Amino acid sequence: MPKVLIATEKPFAAGAVTKIKAELEQAKYDYAFLESYTDPADLHAAVKDADALIIRSDIVDEAVFNAAPNLKIVVRAGAGYDNIDLKTATAKNVVAMNTPGQNSNAVAELAIGMMIYMARGKFNGKSGTELAGKKLSLYGYGYVPRFLAKMAKGIGMDVYAYDPYLKDEQFAQDGVTRLQSVEDVFKTGDYISLHIPATADTKKSINDQLFALMKDNVIMINTARKEVIDEEALVRALEQKAKFRYASDVAPDNTALLEEKFGERVYWTPKKMGAQTAEANDNAGVASVRQIVGYLENGDKTFQVNK
Ligand code: 3PG
Repeated sequence: MPKVLIATEKPFAAGAVTKIKAELEQAKYDYAFLESYTDPADLHAAVKDADALIIRSDIVDEAVFNAAPNLKIVVRAGAGYDNIDLKTATAKNVVAMNTPGQNSNAVAELAIGMMIYMARGKFNGKSGTELAGKKLSLYGYGYVPRFLAKMAKGIGMDVYAYDPYLKDEQFAQDGVTRLQSVEDVFKTGDYISLHIPATADTKKSINDQLFALMKDNVIMINTARKEVIDEEALVRALEQKAKFRYASDVAPDNTALLEEKFGERVYWTPKKMGAQTAEANDNAGVASVRQIVGYLENGDKTFQVNK
């Protein structure tokens, strides 16, 4: 009987845990939960007899793989897998997967909420602005921005997107105007929403050159990863453009400085919460179990990311 460890430093909602257990019991799999841990040693101990591992933003580095001799598959219940050491996974013959799309609606809804929050002066009661009639630039056009585009169009925004990996039809069928370059993303939007993964190429890629192209009163929303921002350049952009506002779902590194200098114009969630909904937890949690069963029983590698 294969054993699955569900290791979530940030636990799934109770309803999702119930659904995950039901799926595992139906598959007749053994399982254990490790929730709210703070010491990696707890993960190392818990994973020692696991055949499969489900995680969220939990770090799965070489030490975790070394502690898990039976591990065959790790599934990131979510989209971004920058927390998994893919090279070591491959070297150890472990399949790594994500669950694309399963928590995307939740993240898109949070981005809309943040756009409104910033447009309305963080709900300070003073006169703000509306989203309707404004241009929204999406940097990346994967699952989250596709949900976001639909919502934004419902509000009456004009939606633009840049993603070099997609065909023209993908944009056309959604009524989204395709942008041809990263620079166009920054020039076009009254609102800019970031949806790129954190990779060696994208880390600190939102830099002085790109900030300089933005409109003076732009609102930027980052529900992607803090690492894609050059935070020193962000400070300079906030200094240079007196109406530029920035909101992110996960605190930047230089929170104290940003708060002190630009309090009214910056916002971040206290803890990453884009995917923190009952629905997203249900979807991503259950999909993770099904992908594990699909792989262990039938060799299905559909969502493998370490190819
Ligand atoms: C993701 O990559 O799916 C999101 O950033 C959500 O991450 P979380 O599961 O840690 O909330």
